[in-house]
Amino acid sequence: MSLMLAKYQINKDNMKHFAFPFALCIAMFLRTGAIAQVPGTSVDGRLFDTDHRMVNAHGAGVMYHNGVYYLFGEIKKGRTWLVAGQKWEDYRVPAGGVSCYSSKDLKHWKYEGIALAPVKGKLENDLDTGRVIERPKVIYNSKTKQFVMWVHIDKKDYSYSQSGVAVSDKPTGPYRYIHSVKPNGQMSRDMTLFQDDDSKAYLIYSSEDNNTMQVCLLSDDYLSPTKTYSRILVGRRREAPALFKNKGKYYLITSSCTGWSPNAATYAVAGNPLGPYKEFGNPCKGPGAETTYDAQSTYVLPVKNGYMFMADRWNKLDLEKSNYIWLPLTVNNGKLEIHRN
Ligand code: DGJ
Repeated sequence: MSLMLAKYQINKDNMKHFAFPFALCIAMFLRTGAIAQVPGTSVDGRLFDTDHRMVNAHGAGVMYHNGVYYLFGEIKKGRTWLVAGQKWEDYRVPAGGVSCYSSKDLKHWKYEGIALAPVKGKLENDLDTGRVIERPKVIYNSKTKQFVMWVHIDKKDYSYSQSGVAVSDKPTGPYRYIHSVKPNGQMSRDMTLFQDDDSKAYLIYSSEDNNTMQVCLLSDDYLSPTKTYSRILVGRRREAPALFKNKGKYYLITSSCTGWSPNAATYAVAGNPLGPYKEFGNPCKGPGAETTYDAQSTYVLPVKNGYMFMADRWNKLDLEKSNYIWLPLTVNNGKLEIHRN
């Protein structure tokens, strides 16, 4: 017995050998703890619904309502083509409208159908399949009891630059399209919505020809932009915004503007949704961080004990085959970290 004890006794010498593996185990435990916050929810590639069909919800956002997560995203279906005469990689697929999926556990996603349907053969209509219907986001207005969707509406050359708004009495839709607007006369491309604890909601969008982002306070019914708006990340050429709140601070993850090709994400922090925002570096860590693991940000979802970073892995030559990454995101002393493994 005493021999055994002696064998396993930790003295200063073997402590040296212990220290590194022990620290590694603790680090792995902490990391695994973060990853396991919603077991099985990480996605790295294809995602299937409960009917074993590939989830078709790109540029997505998630709304949590009455114990159910609702995923809304762009439907990409059909042949991909390159719009002629553009100096950038303007690959397009017919605008398929907005899909909706529901889940109680973030693992099993039930297809709920088309939440916002496209229109065929009416090119002047915002929802025509020849247009751009991208990055839909939905929030619930408890005063009007309506679900409100905002979505980027554009022409195939992205010259229209407007935000569309639609409403429904049910989370899954169908959503009734109202119209699209240029908030305060400003261009509005890649966008997201953010609903604060005080029920105020904000539209965040790439503006000024993608040079500068803007944040605009929405009206109390969430259906119109107000005159309260700010210019943020001025001249920084950012898009793909994803905004969330942690301990009274607002964190905005964005990408650079490189068409459908991936680039490094960065994040910015503010004490107010309207800013001013202070810029920090890349929240992604480890191999692949410089291309956001071959993906582009779309949403950050608060989950139990943390956040889930959601991004699109675009397949620009066949957009229908684009995939997803959903990874745990942690905030440690105000610093964001996303790890793939
Ligand atoms: C990058 C944007 O983030 C996407 O939503 C899409 O508009 C592509 N550009 C088009 O190239």
